[in-house]
Amino acid sequence: MPGADWVTLRLPDENENLLRLVAAAGTVTEDFPPLVSLSSRETQANLAFSSGQPVIVNDYPAEPNASPAIVQLGMKSMALIPIIASGRTLGLVNVISRDAGNFPPERVRIFTTVVDGIGPLFEIARLEGQRRLEQEQLQETIRLSSIGELAAGVAHELNNPLTSVLGYSQMLLDSEIPESVKSSLRIVVSEGQRAAKVIKNFQSFARRSGPEKAFTSVNAVLQMAVDLKRNDFEQSNIKLCCDFDEDVPKTMIDENQVIQVIINIFTNAQQSLEGSGQQSEGESEGDPRELGQVWISSTSSPGKIRICIEDNGVGIPKDKLGKVFEPFFTTKEVGFGTGLGLSICYGIVKQNGGELWADSIEGRGAIFHIEFPILSEEDNVGKTEGTSETS
Ligand SMILES: Nc1ncnc2c1ncn2[C@@H]1O[C@H](COP(=O)(O)OP(=O)(O)OP(=O)(O)O)[C@@H](O)[C@H]1O
Ligand SMILES: [Mg+2]
Repeated sequence: MPGADWVTLRLPDENENLLRLVAAAGTVTEDFPPLVSLSSRETQANLAFSSGQPVIVNDYPAEPNASPAIVQLGMKSMALIPIIASGRTLGLVNVISRDAGNFPPERVRIFTTVVDGIGPLFEIARLEGQRRLEQEQLQETIRLSSIGELAAGVAHELNNPLTSVLGYSQMLLDSEIPESVKSSLRIVVSEGQRAAKVIKNFQSFARRSGPEKAFTSVNAVLQMAVDLKRNDFEQSNIKLCCDFDEDVPKTMIDENQVIQVIINIFTNAQQSLEGSGQQSEGESEGDPRELGQVWISSTSSPGKIRICIEDNGVGIPKDKLGKVFEPFFTTKEVGFGTGLGLSICYGIVKQNGGELWADSIEGRGAIFHIEFPILSEEDNVGKTEGTSETS
């Protein structure tokens, strides 16, 4: 770029309120601020991004919002050129010079022409990324819903014979039979009850009856789940931090089901922080985690409510991240987990029209995201989703 000492490329961050530095060319580029806010103050970047028009700064150090780090690098003038495609601003190219007033209109025209040329490429890359994500989500939904169908079938087939086994065992227990036979029968009953519990969980995962949705405050539901679990966390020495955005609107959800989901995810976080039930693998054994923390937050964006639950526990290895929502996937020892918790959560969130997914950095913690659509009372009266399958 003519007259340039530095050129940076910034793209909007996931929540679109920030511009993230993705590339920089020139000397000492490591001092560039990695993130530029698009909401907190009237910056030149904000102006160029929101207006979709180039912004020229002839004397940067004299600007009221000048970043001290950038001034210290000796930057005097800059041209901020938005990358536009299909009427949307996709990013920002910032051409910077050590000399003041280095970007007259003819230079800016050259920059605009160059940047206009790359706009369609960014749009293609963005659409391709979006398409890939949607395809992956669809595959995941199909996979889990077919597992759900299988689970429902198996649960149904096992439930009837098991009811007979338990019923007849109970009848025998109540009759006049020797004590030695009775004690064996009690084992049959308790093992049968254990199997019945697993079947019940199976049926929750592949729930065939729809949720009972009502127009509900998500924050109030989260607060209820927090109140139910607070004591437990305190006893385990885990700090629970809540950050509920007051502007999160009401939507149509089944309050009890959503509480169940949050408690399940909280319990997993707690177990991860305590290391309880984890199969010990050498060095992780006895690792004392003093600063156990769990964060829960709610935010909203157009049409959506997002709940995030994060912990700083052991995290989930990359190769296991794709499996945690599968029924019976567990890394816990026998007696600590059945591996049904998250698969039930997944089924519930889907039935409430939402999405549930996880991220993690192994050794640093895990984060579970739940997203619900914002629906009005009228939008959803009488409608239930996923009444015959898990999705
Ligand atoms: N917050 C977390 N941190 C680390 N690993 C997690 C976390 N949440 C879930 N996992 C992993 O996902 C697996 C599946 O979780 P899920 O809740 O479905 O089953 P579980 O906790 O093992 O058993 P259950 O919930 O049936 O008692 C866990 O065994 C664990 O390996
Ligand atoms: Mg669990």
